[in-house]
Amino acid sequence: MGFPQERPRRLRASETLRRMVRETKVTVDDLIYPIFVTNGQGVKNPVASMPGVYQLSVDLAVKEAEEAWKLGIPAVLLFGIPAYKDEKGSSAYDDNEAVQRAIRAIKDKCPELLVIPDLCLCEYTSHGHCGLLDEKGNVMNDATLEVLGKVALSYARAGADMVAPSDMMDGRVGHIRRVLDEAGYSHLPIMSYAAKYASAFYGPFRDVAESAPQFGDRRGYQMDPANGLEALKEVRLDLEEGADIVMVKPALAYLDIIRRVKDTFGVPVAAYNVSGEYAMVKAAAQMGWLDEKRIVMEIVTGIKRAGADIIITYHAKDLARWLKEE
Ligand code: PBG
Repeated sequence: MGFPQERPRRLRASETLRRMVRETKVTVDDLIYPIFVTNGQGVKNPVASMPGVYQLSVDLAVKEAEEAWKLGIPAVLLFGIPAYKDEKGSSAYDDNEAVQRAIRAIKDKCPELLVIPDLCLCEYTSHGHCGLLDEKGNVMNDATLEVLGKVALSYARAGADMVAPSDMMDGRVGHIRRVLDEAGYSHLPIMSYAAKYASAFYGPFRDVAESAPQFGDRRGYQMDPANGLEALKEVRLDLEEGADIVMVKPALAYLDIIRRVKDTFGVPVAAYNVSGEYAMVKAAAQMGWLDEKRIVMEIVTGIKRAGADIIITYHAKDLARWLKEE
């Protein structure tokens, strides 16, 4: 067959027809909204490289989470800017730090909203690396696992609905799973940043989270952007260690990885539409060079079409409003 029997345009003739045959639909149920929490009261610090994103004190983070919930967003991902940092990242497992207090306060106000703390050390270490360092400045994998386990427990105690380890140490999912199980939290799911690349797209995030490494870079633990098969290995290991949801991060330069992970493993896949991806859209929209709403809809549709079930995005509140309008 072929033309003139086949005329694909027949099914594009009206919005109603297009709606009926549409293959991919993004809904508010797919979204996770990241929130950055800091100490203090009434704090709302803007970040130049991420218009619309703020460091929020717990009181305001609760309001932000409530707003997300009212818009229908099912989950928030929490990052912390702690009151103190040291070599060992000990503020990460301080039960009175911003993230732990935010978890308790948000669960109190919005019990059904899923609260997912990001689990990493880079915001909490004085050197800004995601693990403990030896005297030469190398990240010590196995010693780091112990600290990550303590952080996971602290989040579980605070009432987190899930934890999301983003450090990229080998074996951390298995270790966190064991620690949680032994403490009676075997029901708590793990969403692992499984295929997390050493990406320049994290630049604006490090401004907000104040987590840039003080020396060197993260290429010793995050993945080489050139590697695809290695992503499948990382995902396989995380699943074997007990991950419930696996993440690919960033999203846009890694849509092929999302597809391969989905096709190979058939498990729930999350994609992180990261800070640099957000900043590019915001900057171009502010210049009047792009139609923000249409661009964002196209981006999230592409991420979902690639195979993602869940999309972590700073555009989540806007998306929720736009999806409601349609
Ligand atoms: C922590 C972490 C990072 C991001 C999420 N968790 C930064 C990094 O690895 O340097 C980046 C998110 C974004 O860019 O939006 N390890």
